[in-house]
Amino acid sequence: MKVIPVSFFVPKIQKTGNKYMSEVAFGNSDKTTNGGNRQLPEKQPNYSYGNTINQYSDKGRVEVKKSKNRSGNPIETHVKYRTGNIKQREAVYAVDGDKRYLVSLMHYDELGDNIKTIRPSGNGGAVVLELDKEKGEWNSRELSTIHYERLSYQPKLAGVLQGGINNITTQQINGPTTAAKDAEEVEKHFPITYGQPLVQTIPMYSEFPLRQIPAPKKRNVGVILSGGPAPGGHNVIAGLYDALKEANPDSKLYGFKEGVKGLTKGNSMEITDVVIDEYRNTGGFDLLKASREKLEGNKFDKVLENCKALDIDTIVIVGGDDSNTNTGLLAEWMKAHNAGIQVIGCPKTIDGDLQNEHIEMSFGFDTATKTYAELVGNLQRDASSAGKYTNFVRLMGRSASHIVLEVALRAHPNVALISEEIEAKNMSLDDIVDDIVGVIAARSEGKDDNGEKKNYSVILVPEGLLEFIPEVKRMNSSLSDILDIVSKDETFNKKSDKERFEIVKSQMSKEDAKVFDKFPDPIKNQLLLPKDDHGNTQVAKIETEKLLIDLVGQKLEKLAVEGKYKGKFSPLAHYLGYEGRSAFPSNFDADYCYSLGYNAFALAQAGLTGYMSCIKGLTRPAENWQAGGVPITSMMNIEKRHGEYVPVIQKAMVDLEGSAFKMYKNEQPHRWALKDNYKFPSGVQFFGPDSVCNKPSLTQMYSDIPETDCNLLIPKNILEASSRSFQTDEKLGRRVIKTVTPDGREFVTTTTACKEDGKRIKSKTYEIVDGEYILRSEAKYDGSGKTIIFSQVEKEGGFHYIDFPKGEWVIVDEVGNNHERRDAEEYVEALNSGEINTLAM
Ligand code: FBP
Repeated sequence: MKVIPVSFFVPKIQKTGNKYMSEVAFGNSDKTTNGGNRQLPEKQPNYSYGNTINQYSDKGRVEVKKSKNRSGNPIETHVKYRTGNIKQREAVYAVDGDKRYLVSLMHYDELGDNIKTIRPSGNGGAVVLELDKEKGEWNSRELSTIHYERLSYQPKLAGVLQGGINNITTQQINGPTTAAKDAEEVEKHFPITYGQPLVQTIPMYSEFPLRQIPAPKKRNVGVILSGGPAPGGHNVIAGLYDALKEANPDSKLYGFKEGVKGLTKGNSMEITDVVIDEYRNTGGFDLLKASREKLEGNKFDKVLENCKALDIDTIVIVGGDDSNTNTGLLAEWMKAHNAGIQVIGCPKTIDGDLQNEHIEMSFGFDTATKTYAELVGNLQRDASSAGKYTNFVRLMGRSASHIVLEVALRAHPNVALISEEIEAKNMSLDDIVDDIVGVIAARSEGKDDNGEKKNYSVILVPEGLLEFIPEVKRMNSSLSDILDIVSKDETFNKKSDKERFEIVKSQMSKEDAKVFDKFPDPIKNQLLLPKDDHGNTQVAKIETEKLLIDLVGQKLEKLAVEGKYKGKFSPLAHYLGYEGRSAFPSNFDADYCYSLGYNAFALAQAGLTGYMSCIKGLTRPAENWQAGGVPITSMMNIEKRHGEYVPVIQKAMVDLEGSAFKMYKNEQPHRWALKDNYKFPSGVQFFGPDSVCNKPSLTQMYSDIPETDCNLLIPKNILEASSRSFQTDEKLGRRVIKTVTPDGREFVTTTTACKEDGKRIKSKTYEIVDGEYILRSEAKYDGSGKTIIFSQVEKEGGFHYIDFPKGEWVIVDEVGNNHERRDAEEYVEALNSGEINTLAM
């Protein structure tokens, strides 16, 4: 059967309207609302200052009291109760239109004793007071003003998740997946979880009142933060926590400390309101801390043991490519051992190299690059102000140069080295140095439009550069193999530097030894550092910017002696990496992470394992984001690590054919190298116009990855621009999704769902023309909610019929005669070319 190339997301569900939200969140629902993204309705019917109380839920309730403060300004007090009317949390907000700003936050223990308070401090910012019950003492610490302000930020949920955790479900898309590369080998490592289908998270369509859907069972979930920190990790936990508590307030979330280490040692803490509230929208991973430990050997048994002890049924691993390789391995192991524990991953890393067709970007990249871009912009301004320094700025990013590229697009430095290009052009270290020297020398001679002599510049260097210079890469690969053996001999590490250099050189080819000798001793030493747990070279420790300063300096000196360079070279070395990994997450990362965590729980609820939580459509507003799950094995390939071939998630490198790189290449040689075209982007902005606060990275904006464009049935332009919302349709007398296209056409979609599990069985879409409901399409679904038959009335009166399992579609005329039969891929083509005018579910 031919696989239909369908992008896996259903149409966006526009931000749920107030009417719907108020039904869920206020009064009529059985659901507990638990902070997070819950929106407050604009108007309360019985509103009157001072005495209005709204009950939210049955198990533990939340009350909202609207009143005025002493200055007469509106405030709201949100009180959450435990069962038995014991206060759990009390938050006071200042109200400004539809915005709420936290004034104070108090937490209470099971006995109703106040144990933690966050409130404004006299000298700006806020103070946290925490009760040490044993000692009977209050401990206090200060929060900065911005920290305090960020606690009020309500991260936005992806549109499809906004109906609430108990109103969403997942459905499979297409057939089995394969691996990114080396499919046969990958499959051997994952005999059980290999080939799982993509899934999409969708609203659980139901014509039955919400309260008839059975409440989800209590679940205990464990979470770890793994690898290097990335801004937004705490919001993944917040999203997961809010979803879990919203689904069933008796469920528990446990955080394991220091990543895999905590999982194997059983070092955990329960995440509660008291714990998470202070960490909402904050950077870093300090709530749980992280490590780079790999899961292998008997560690799997330990994880099982520790999870069983806490009755945990799902583990969520927040990590990069290597950490999520752990996700895949653990999911497979748990299945193989019938452990009844699901494992879900979330895509993290500032490096941006965990991306693919479905994972549009790993979280943290946006905040980190905005932070670095600000610093690079500042250096550019300093350089052109003082006019005397050549700044070599190494930027984090491990292998891939996504960070350098993004920062370059934001700040327009004179030069930005892109490792992937250097490798593709087979450039040597000397070639790179020559290029840099060329720019420095030309600038010093004023070889630009104005003739102004410039002895300053800013040059960006990706930290993984050396591994991409073909001659160095070859040498480094042989060095890795040699180190794997010699470092096992304890005496090797005790020898002097010179002796160790000689030992490794003696085991290399002559060419490799020659390349090794090009490096000054400090760099040689850094090359000899042990690999990390996952077998990666520790590029963060290799001072490539200093190496380049050395080599460029030598070359300029030589030119000066030859009378070919008359400028002044005063180099400065910078390394920007750790500065960006723990910054307060941008609005984008805060929203994205919150949605990732929330959706991870939706995947867990659906019983999935070995999947990565995925949010798509990221260049659009959050209400248009879609959600789903990507099988971890579908992202894997085989790589050599620590001398062995093992399955790992394939790293995404800068695409030299992609528009982001092309944009750089179009600009840099002509407009940035010799002339100054510096931009000063400043850093992450939380307040102000949308253009400065809410835009994702430029790499993403320029990305060639098609944006959720072809859920086979919906053309991209219509999908993107239509507004969609849940409503009750008077004429049909049932709940529908209403779609209004940009040209004003109105459609309603009805869905019949299975009473037991809420999975959809069939749906119909009508166009409303002059008050008439004209059937435009019908679809039927299998037991899992997956589309099996889709038929659609075409404008001209023809009738499309798509039989998904056969991968075919036919056009039937009005009396049912078969007109034409085509391959489904042609259908997609016809759709994309606009040949078919499709509007559907
Ligand atoms: P992750 O891939 O785990 O997110 O870490 C990325 C990174 O920040 C790289 O950019 C950098 O090379 C490396 O971590 C530094 O590692 P360490 O934190 O161990 O010094």
